[in-house]
Amino acid sequence: MTVPATNTADLLRQASAHDFDGDESTRLATIREAQRLINRLQHLTERSWELAFENWAVLGIVQTFVNLGIFERWLDAGGDTASLETLCGLAKAAIDPKLLVRLCRLLAAKDFIEEVAEEQYKPTAFSLALGDRGSLQAGWIQCGHDHFKYGGLDHFSRFLQETSYRDPVDGGNTAYRLGCPENLDLWARCSLTPELQTSFSEMMECWTRGHDISLFRARHHAAIPAGSLVLQDRPEALALAGVDLDKIRIMPHDFLTPQLVRNARAYMFHAVFHDWSDEKSLVILKHTAAAMKLGYSRLLIADVVLQPTGASAFQAAMDVSMMGLLSAKERTQGMWEELLSGAGFKILKIWKDPKRYESVIEAELAGPDGGAHSQ
Ligand SMILES: C[S@@+](CC[C@H](N)C(=O)[O-])C[C@H]1O[C@@H](n2cnc3c(N)ncnc32)[C@H](O)[C@@H]1O
Repeated sequence: MTVPATNTADLLRQASAHDFDGDESTRLATIREAQRLINRLQHLTERSWELAFENWAVLGIVQTFVNLGIFERWLDAGGDTASLETLCGLAKAAIDPKLLVRLCRLLAAKDFIEEVAEEQYKPTAFSLALGDRGSLQAGWIQCGHDHFKYGGLDHFSRFLQETSYRDPVDGGNTAYRLGCPENLDLWARCSLTPELQTSFSEMMECWTRGHDISLFRARHHAAIPAGSLVLQDRPEALALAGVDLDKIRIMPHDFLTPQLVRNARAYMFHAVFHDWSDEKSLVILKHTAAAMKLGYSRLLIADVVLQPTGASAFQAAMDVSMMGLLSAKERTQGMWEELLSGAGFKILKIWKDPKRYESVIEAELAGPDGGAHSQ
């Protein structure tokens, strides 16, 4: 059946995220099909153009708007339709209207803002979120600027060429280090410059939508003895954690050294092992195993579990991003099994995420006979 092109466009115009009524799997599957539709409809040159010119130009403009505080001040001023002159007045630094109109033109063409008349603009839900510090979306953009670009772009292809196209496994030798001006790794740069730690932490907070430990505390508040939840990280990251201290103990810890919290019921690592090679991950896991009580303690790992085929773009992009940032990787179930058994663990269950973002791997010490010892 041939659907008239105009009807198809009308149909697409009416679709919205609300149509899915919280069914995230179907919403994401629909996005995937919509992207495939665009790929089919685009001419080859249009696709290359979008990839090589539009995406970077848009990111540069969004970063400029964030730097100038335009989204933030637009939201503070009520978020109504604004003239070019008004937007110039909102900027933290003087900006030539002839420049701003050119930037707005592309933002409107890419639906970041709406052009309601000549030199009259309306924010969209996304540009308002970029102006809302609480939504942390601007932190995400800032993190792309401060960090992800060094693990990507031309540094990435240059790094792969310079390392003879070997799978990167040395966290001391990364595309990020090659690209960043200080020739430092990600964590060292964050430790030296508070702003760089802040944008990284805001991106993480945005992604994990509030720290897991705070969500756990909120859900089980009455049952949790004070101080029995321990949050460990680098001191610079902990300083920004902003957790309630009534039940949660903050403990700076280098997880490449022995684990001091012993015999806990659960040791949870979220988005940690994807930052590390197998060699370093084994060090972390063995320190954790040494602190655990056989048959009682559980290991919980929230990370990507790559499907053997058909990985989502999120999972595949996360894998390549970890390659660029840290010479690290995401893992398939088989890779997880090998890694964990190498450190003396046995996987009990993998809690899969139907959205195909991250899963939770539940494991325990295998014990001397290699079997499970659940209580
Ligand atoms: C991708 S982030 C995940 C943060 C947090 N688990 C979450 O889910 O929001 C990785 C974390 O590992 C921390 N990290 C890096 N090296 C570390 C080390 N040697 N010891 C402890 N934490 C470290 C970083 O500070 C960062 O917060």
